[in-house]
Amino acid sequence: MDTPIYDFVKNYIDKKSHRLHMPGHKGVSFLGCEHLDLTEIDGADYLYNAKGIIRESMDNATQIFGSYRTFYTTEGSSLSIKVMLKTVIHEFSKEGETPLVIASRNAHKAFIYSAMMLNFDVEYVKSSKDFTLCNGVVSPEDLEDAINSADRKPVCVYITSPDYLGGMCDITALSKVCDRYGIPLLVDNAHGGYLNFLQNSPHPIHCGAFMCCDSAHKTLPVLTGGGYLHLSERAKDIAPSIGRFMEFFGSTSPSYLILQSLDLANKYLAGDYSKDLKKCVSDIQNLKAKLIYNGWEIYPSDPLKLTVKPKSFGYSGYDIAEILAKNNGFVEYADPDFVVIMLTPQNSYDDFEFIEKTLNSLPKKEEILPTKLPKLNFEKVLSPFEASKNEFETVAVKDSIGRIASSPNVGFPPAIAVVTAGERISAEAVEIMEYYGIDKIDVIKEHRCK
Ligand SMILES: Cc1ncc(COP(=O)(O)O)c(C=O)c1O
Repeated sequence: MDTPIYDFVKNYIDKKSHRLHMPGHKGVSFLGCEHLDLTEIDGADYLYNAKGIIRESMDNATQIFGSYRTFYTTEGSSLSIKVMLKTVIHEFSKEGETPLVIASRNAHKAFIYSAMMLNFDVEYVKSSKDFTLCNGVVSPEDLEDAINSADRKPVCVYITSPDYLGGMCDITALSKVCDRYGIPLLVDNAHGGYLNFLQNSPHPIHCGAFMCCDSAHKTLPVLTGGGYLHLSERAKDIAPSIGRFMEFFGSTSPSYLILQSLDLANKYLAGDYSKDLKKCVSDIQNLKAKLIYNGWEIYPSDPLKLTVKPKSFGYSGYDIAEILAKNNGFVEYADPDFVVIMLTPQNSYDDFEFIEKTLNSLPKKEEILPTKLPKLNFEKVLSPFEASKNEFETVAVKDSIGRIASSPNVGFPPAIAVVTAGERISAEAVEIMEYYGIDKIDVIKEHRCK
């Protein structure tokens, strides 16, 4: 597979061109990669109206993912999420009606910020399961209930899968529900770009999603910020609007380092990657088996995550993250109940051995009993858009009962709200936030507490 963006830049460097344009570093090395960093000069194409080398490279990605069209982003899924939502609102909302989106509760803050900017209402799918901060696996029945209880037809259903713990929704089943009601399904697949390369691909674009986004940088060998926005065949009419809406929210100076990274990744993804992925998935399964054999509890997750539930072994998620860090290993995420390790084919044998040796050398301690968190009911007072128009102040979570949240209050990562913009903060929400170590929250100034 060819690499037109990378080749263009290499040729530019080889020619020892006079850099009479941005960026200001002129290729002089401070960091080491400046010589590779260009801007939209003649021949370098335009990301948001791609007709040259970027279009050729995106066509390669389209072929690799088997989508109708795949677009690049150099600002991660955060940009794709805004673009997906803007597009469906533009296409499907009715004159004089505030658009409604039905979403899973574990939506990343980029989704809430979209609601604050684009003025759509959100109804969350109520889950029959207990609350955990990251998990939002939605069943087809729960989704159907949410659609039937909505006061108007939503412009889309918005699902996050895989979630931060690695929980996966049955996208095929959810898309069938959406089809029955004639509603497009958008999937935040930020954590699942690699799913395309598994046998019987569970990637959302092959399971009925109308559109979905991947953070290429999260699971594929791509620089931070690199991502894809995929359109299915059914979304082909909106393909011409994507560049325009990307330009609404994205920088007009997309990073050529990231574009080259996406471009070069194509060559690997079309070549040896699937074989390497298969081996990596099998190595992770073996590692999980060794940990389970030693008594560790492993949470069922998407194949590239190792999510440990360490309380039954006598440790909190924070304890495990700290022990690994003391030994120079840094995890993706930890909370009281879980520790999430993300692995890819680019991890070394040594990394796998490190995890096994460190965890399996720890003594089993008395089980820490799980904390039963209260059931969380969400009282919506304002839409996220209305909330965004009010002045806010930051207060201690312990003093916030009865106040209205003004932004997606987050633990970071995973950037998922316990209480989100426009919702009243309940005593239960405070208990949950304190459990997750969240001690400050932005609240609206005008609506004083009772
Ligand atoms: C589920 C989910 N969606 C979206 C995002 C945003 O992705 P990006 O960092 O690529 O903008 C994240 C980031 O962590 C995420 O976890």
